[in-house]
Amino acid sequence: MQSKELRVNGQRLRESMEHMAKIGATPGGGVQRLALTDEDKQARDLFVRWLNDIELGVTIDEMGNIFGRRPSRNNSLPPVMSGSHMDSQPSGGRFDGILGVMGTLEVLRTLDENQVETERPITIVDWTNEEGARFSPAMVGSGVWAGALEKDWAYSRTDINDNRFEDELIRIGYKGKAACAQWPVYCYYEYHIEQGPILEREQKIIGAPKGIVCLHWYDVYLEGEANQVGPTPMEGRHDALCAAAEMILKVNELPERMHGNLVATVGEIQNHPNSRNIIPDKVHFTVDIRSWDDDHALRAWELLREEFEEIAARRGCPIKTEETWKVQHSPFDEKLVRRILDVADQLGYPNLHMVSGAGHDASYMNQVCPTAMIFVPSIGGRSHVEVENTSWEDCEAGANTLLHAILQSAQEG
Ligand code: GLV
Ligand code: MN
Ligand code: MN
Repeated sequence: MQSKELRVNGQRLRESMEHMAKIGATPGGGVQRLALTDEDKQARDLFVRWLNDIELGVTIDEMGNIFGRRPSRNNSLPPVMSGSHMDSQPSGGRFDGILGVMGTLEVLRTLDENQVETERPITIVDWTNEEGARFSPAMVGSGVWAGALEKDWAYSRTDINDNRFEDELIRIGYKGKAACAQWPVYCYYEYHIEQGPILEREQKIIGAPKGIVCLHWYDVYLEGEANQVGPTPMEGRHDALCAAAEMILKVNELPERMHGNLVATVGEIQNHPNSRNIIPDKVHFTVDIRSWDDDHALRAWELLREEFEEIAARRGCPIKTEETWKVQHSPFDEKLVRRILDVADQLGYPNLHMVSGAGHDASYMNQVCPTAMIFVPSIGGRSHVEVENTSWEDCEAGANTLLHAILQSAQEG
């Protein structure tokens, strides 16, 4: 068969996805496969078994990143890399991350059964803890590999029950021996669901983002004064939760006050002692700010911080803020983005040049080698929820686009 006519096996891709969706399946049809849990281990074990089935050289590094290498005519050339992540949000969907890993696996299976030899090796990857839902921040596996984050700092991160990242990595048996440090990669592709409404609205099947917005994560800690709610008069209270409530609305209104080009969200909050008849004395909440313009995001945070200080002082609730994580906006490699749009055209898939509002390991990979992503539509624009869905036809179309983008790169000398 002419390699131009090659197509992935959509039914096999669907079966792999459905098999993975059973691991950590939730009653509402989603998955809970938080990083470094037993469910994550189960998915990893199955993935490694599937890599071995097609005789890839499997390497696990000290951050638990899993690589599978398909050899080539010239094994000394840096490989084309493609993959994503298999961890999920607490009530996550069946497509986020896993589609990019299973899509790449389907590409490799297709190349194998058609005995396609490539000039360059192809490496499939599953990055550890992309979501940052259990251990913040996000994208730590790729971040450490790319040299943007310190391994020991990542190891020391704790979950809400004070479990250490490194201890959990050891517990599930995925603290590998290979150094987690970048090695030469020719280019990186990441295939993913869009996680937003645009492709569906525009009736397109393939999206090629010009890049990813910047991500800024902050943690806010407030101290109040606990007391019995009944006898304590309203005046003179130091209610940390009320201070937080005022601040949270400031976050929500921030994009409008900054005249757009920005989204801002409080997604996580802990309230202590969380009893209906005690005035809250400790509150922690998170702030997530994203924009294509890094300076704009920073100015937004500065404005917010001044407002937080004012609210904290007025309510007598001392405040501490921390910048937990920051990734600059990532403009992808124009040639690779163009290639994805061209491949989609050749395959007859309507396509769109767009922007990614979600973070991806591709942000860090973009700092190391030419990088691009392939998006397929999210039904109803819903993601990070159990009802997250993408049609199997679109999953197949994305995998075919990935197949030909990878093939073109892998045949370059
Ligand atoms: C990653 O899932 C993100 O927060 O965009
Ligand atoms: Mn993802
Ligand atoms: Mn996600």
